[in-house]
Amino acid sequence: MAFKDKKVIITGAAGNIGRALVDRFLASGAIIFAVDKAQDGLDALQRQFPNVRICNIDLMDWEATREGVDALGPVHYLINNAGLVIAESFLEMKLESIDLSLGVHFKGALNVSQVVVKNMIKAGIPGSIVNVSSVASFRASTKLGAYSTSKAAMDMLTKVMAVELGEHKIRVNSINPSVILTEMAQKLPQNDNFMTRTPLKRIARIDEVVNAILFTLGDECPIMTGNFLTIDGGYSISAN
Ligand SMILES: NC(=O)c1ccc[n+]([C@@H]2O[C@H](COP(=O)([O-])OP(=O)(O)OC[C@H]3O[C@@H](n4cnc5c(N)ncnc54)[C@H](O)[C@@H]3O)[C@@H](O)[C@H]2O)c1
Repeated sequence: MAFKDKKVIITGAAGNIGRALVDRFLASGAIIFAVDKAQDGLDALQRQFPNVRICNIDLMDWEATREGVDALGPVHYLINNAGLVIAESFLEMKLESIDLSLGVHFKGALNVSQVVVKNMIKAGIPGSIVNVSSVASFRASTKLGAYSTSKAAMDMLTKVMAVELGEHKIRVNSINPSVILTEMAQKLPQNDNFMTRTPLKRIARIDEVVNAILFTLGDECPIMTGNFLTIDGGYSISAN
């Protein structure tokens, strides 16, 4: 019950990792604000977890996002988890794909965080934020240009926030998985070398990613800020 009575905003809460996060944080005693733009998914979440407060917010709408998040009041924790993957080669990349990728992973995370942090500071809460990024932010793969560059922008946002918010005792960290056993993984372009290069020879399970987020967000290691936790079976450090 490490998160007992603590308020947590999870974006992308109706997705695969989001739902697993909601489940685990509720079991840890937290009060959950589940943000997503998919009403069907939010309704299903509400049926499964009646105590969750669902919030239909499209992160592409700057003002509606600010109003919606502000209305939740001060919270202790934020997980910027909403995301999407569009598989297009560099020469095929469309303006809409670039806008959506940067709009959700960078501008959306920045916007939500700004409102959350202002309310944390006002309420004197020493909060913690985790940005759900990817190894794609620093390893370039074919057909992931919009996704990768937007996650790279998110990583720099993590660093900037960690540097500026330390004086308010607010920590900001990132988790950077490679492929996770989810539907999103099926949309990723096939990479024949991926398993060869992965020392542990398997992709991550959702529960492993959730464990990493709980550890990084919580107070088990409160000196940690501006950190990037790769969850990738060794893929990103392998020279094979
Ligand atoms: N699945 C993987 O293999 C993998 C690997 C590395 C990183 N990640 C990251 O993990 C996070 C969660 O991924 P997932 O596998 O659960 O994906 P998912 O598609 O199951 O869930 C993503 C959720 O984000 C929501 N979302 C998208 N755009 C939004 C917007 N404009 N406003 C509000 N909500 C929006 C979707 O509605 C969806 O519910 C993403 O940030 C993703 O980039 C996933």
